[in-house]
Amino acid sequence: MTRKKIVELLKADAPIDNLLINGWVRTKRDSKNFSFLEVNDGSCLKNMQIVVEENVPDYIEIKKLTTGSAVAVRGSLVPSPGGGQKWEVRATRLAIISLAPETFPLQKKRHTDEYLRTIAHLRPRTNKYGAIFRIRSELSWAVHQFFRDRGFRYIHTPVITGSDCEGAGELFRVTTLNPCMPMTPDEKIDSAKDFFGKESNLTVSGQLSAEMFALALGDVYTFGPTFRAENSNTSRHVAEFWMIEPEMAFCDLAGNMDLGEAMIKHLVGFIIDNCSEDLDLFARFVDTSLIKTLENIIFSDFFRLPYKEAIDILIGSKESFEYPLAYGSDLQSEHERYLTETHFKKPLIIYDYPKTIKPFYMRLNDDDETVGAMDILVPRIGELIGGSQREERLDVLEKRMAAFGLSKENYWWYLDSRRYGTVPHSGFGLGFERLLMLVTGVSNIRDVIPFPRTPGNIDF
Ligand code: 4AD
Ligand code: MG
Repeated sequence: MTRKKIVELLKADAPIDNLLINGWVRTKRDSKNFSFLEVNDGSCLKNMQIVVEENVPDYIEIKKLTTGSAVAVRGSLVPSPGGGQKWEVRATRLAIISLAPETFPLQKKRHTDEYLRTIAHLRPRTNKYGAIFRIRSELSWAVHQFFRDRGFRYIHTPVITGSDCEGAGELFRVTTLNPCMPMTPDEKIDSAKDFFGKESNLTVSGQLSAEMFALALGDVYTFGPTFRAENSNTSRHVAEFWMIEPEMAFCDLAGNMDLGEAMIKHLVGFIIDNCSEDLDLFARFVDTSLIKTLENIIFSDFFRLPYKEAIDILIGSKESFEYPLAYGSDLQSEHERYLTETHFKKPLIIYDYPKTIKPFYMRLNDDDETVGAMDILVPRIGELIGGSQREERLDVLEKRMAAFGLSKENYWWYLDSRRYGTVPHSGFGLGFERLLMLVTGVSNIRDVIPFPRTPGNIDF
C-alpha cells in the first residue's frame, strides 16, 4: 500500500493499484448504489473524485459523510469515464477518520475575505487560501534559491535586539518586569533590572546585524519576522511581517538597484513558471489583469529617477492628492501609486531622497542634502523595497548619529565596523507579504499571512 498525494496522482501516466489517500470531503453525491466523493488533501487546488460502490464495507456509514469530514481511502487510480477529470479512484475500503457536523462553517459557497478573517484558523481549507499559502511556501523556497545561486550566505539575525535600526521608535518592548515595578526615582521603568539589563525590543529590521556579516562573508541575506508597532490600519501594513534583507559588500547604490530589480523579476517569473494552477485561480477570480501586470514587471526595465524629479512630476500633475507635496516631504502611498500606475505604468526606482526623511545609516551624498537611498515601487502595491548604500565613513556616520540623537555607546559595535576594514556596502529590505500581494492580486495584506497581527487584533 503506497500513500499518495493527490497532486502526484493527478500527474500519473498509468493506473495505480492498491494506494492510500487521506483527505477531507469537499462534496458528496449519492446515487442509488454508489457515491461520488470529491476529496482534497491540501496538496493542490484540484480534488480527487472517489467512487464508492455499495459493495465497499460499511457503505451505510459512508452515506453519513458530511462536508469537511476526514477520510482515508484505499483503492486504485483508474481512468475516469466521466468528463472533467482524467483519473478517479475506485475505493475498495473507506475509513471515516472523523465526521464534521453540519455546522462546519465552510459549506460549499463563496465567503467574503472579511468573514474568513474571523475564522483564520479554518480559512486555509478553502480553495483560495489553500492556493495563497502554497504560493507563499513556494515563494519562500524561491527566495533562498535566488540567493544561493548567486553565492549569498543566509544569516539568522536576532529577533530580540537593543537597537532601533529605522529610528522611527515603532518598537514592541520586550520585558520580563512587572509592568508597575520597579521604577527609577523619576518614575521611569528601571531597565537595568530587566532580563537583559537594558531596554530591549523586537527587531524592526535585521539590517545592522546583516551589515556586520556582509563585512565578513561578502554577500549575505536575512529572511525573518519583523515587528513594527506603527498604528497604521492600512491594507499594506501589519505589525508582524517577514522581510528579506540582502546586504552586499563592495557594492554601491546602482548595484543595489540591479539586485532588487533582478530579484523581483526572478520571483515573479518563478511563480508564473511553477505555480500555474494556483495562480490561475487568482487570475480568474481575484484580478483579471493579474498575468498582464506580472508580465509587465518581468519584461520592462524599471524606470530609475531621483526623488527631485519624482516630486516635479507629482507637483506638475493635475492630480488632487490628499497629502500635499513639497521638496522634502515623504512620498505617501497615493503618490507612489500615481507614479508607478498612472505616470510610468511600470515599476520604478526612486533614489537620492532628502536626508531629513531617511534613517541615520544611509550614505550622505556630496550635495550634503540627499542620501543614497532607493525605493522600488510597483503597480498596485507602491513601495515593495526600501534600501540604500550605507554610510561607511566613520566621521560622517558619527555626525549623522549625533544629528539623530543616537548614542555612540549603544552603537559602539556598529561604529567599530567602520573602524576596521570598512568598505562601501549596500542592501535593501523587501516586504514578503507585499510581494505575495503583488503575485496573487490579493488587495489586503491580512489575507496573505497565516494569522495577521494588526492594531487591536491578536486572535489565533
Ligand atoms: O523601507 P523599510 O522600512 O526598510 C528597512 O527596514 C531597511 N532597514 C531595509 C534594509 O535596507 N535592509 O522596510 C522595507 C520593506 C518595505 O519596503 C515594505 O515592503 C516592508 O518592508 N514593510 C512592511 N510590510 C508590511 N507591514 C509593514 N508594517 C511594513 N513596513 C515595511
Ligand atoms: Mg521604506
